Amino acid sequence: LIQPVLLSGGVGSRLWPVSRERYPKQLQTIHGKRSLIQDTALRVAETTRFAPPMIVCNEDHRFIIAEQFRDIAVQPFAIILEPVGRNTAPAAAVAALVACNADPDAILLLLPADHAVLDQQAFQAAVTRAHSLAAQGHLVTFGIQPQYPETGYGYIQRGASIPKATNAFHVAAFIEKPDLARAETFVANGNHYWNSGMFMMPARILIEELRRHSPETLTAVRDALDLAKQDTDFLRLDATAFARAPNLSIDYAVMEKTDRAAMVSADIGWTDVGTWSALWDISAKDQNGNATVGTVIHVDANNTYVRCDDGRVAAVVGVDNVVLVTTDDAVLLVHRDRAQDVKHVVDTLKRDK
Ligand code: GDD
Ligand code: MG
Repeated sequence: LIQPVLLSGGVGSRLWPVSRERYPKQLQTIHGKRSLIQDTALRVAETTRFAPPMIVCNEDHRFIIAEQFRDIAVQPFAIILEPVGRNTAPAAAVAALVACNADPDAILLLLPADHAVLDQQAFQAAVTRAHSLAAQGHLVTFGIQPQYPETGYGYIQRGASIPKATNAFHVAAFIEKPDLARAETFVANGNHYWNSGMFMMPARILIEELRRHSPETLTAVRDALDLAKQDTDFLRLDATAFARAPNLSIDYAVMEKTDRAAMVSADIGWTDVGTWSALWDISAKDQNGNATVGTVIHVDANNTYVRCDDGRVAAVVGVDNVVLVTTDDAVLLVHRDRAQDVKHVVDTLKRDK
């Protein structure tokens, strides 16, 4: 069985005012009927293929997460609580050590808890291809055909095809978050893919690669686990030991450095739903390109995203390409092209707090 690991640590600041520190985007119903973490869990719920998921999350979110898993009737293998966020390398290290302890041959499927995957069948097929590469000792990435030079993603330079495997490649280089000029050349030359942030590898191999490339992470996390306390449904990592782990993503800590990386190309309808504009992209729209949540009246409005689901009525008149989002205590109005900049609102709020 494949061991899914759901990484739930981000804040999703570009989806303010819906995504908040105490209630971040992965725990919210952003798209569809369930929260993003619930959708992620259900994507890997087929028990003939997947073991019960391991969840690595911030301790502040433990009750919401436990409740959301009860709601979808999924019993996690473990809910591991981080006292502080240290990015994805320590979180993945914890998962690898716990999984390896239970089964030395465990194969992990690391999944960001806050992405949307629109094509389930293609996703399952990509996992199948990744699984056989992982079983051969590769650290497998899921590469997405890039659509524009995004600088917030990692890029995978495709190497030689892997024999006897479909759409599977060695990785010539892994470049985490290039600058715009490099991203532009990557998109133009056609042999670079976006890294989707999902990974598949044997737990044992991840531990070996961490030992080689980021030993401080492994040591800190091992101590945090040795001193961890089981608290009803939750495994609480030791705060002092965990805080010694460097703040490092798995991309910088391992993927840029390992020579065991492989890639499957994955046309799975993937989006990291990072911004309101990305959400507009995947939402159902009326004939004028307007996407709505709640009761909205449009008069001469085109290509807008309006979310007002608190019982009030919203109206947009004579405007195009705007995003309007309201919650109990906040209103956001932003041009669709500036959706990336919503994070500055959160920066400002934090500074003034
Ligand atoms: N448990 C835990 N603890 N999870 C975390 C932490 C943490 O400290 N930090 C981040 N995560 C979770 C996030 O919630 C998200 O689900 C996932 O790990 C990835 O983290 P992000 O912070 O969203 O990473 P990113 O967007 O900057 O970059 C990664 O994802 C891109 C695709 O969305 C990289 O893997 C890029 O290469 C990739 O292109
Ligand atoms: Mg992200």
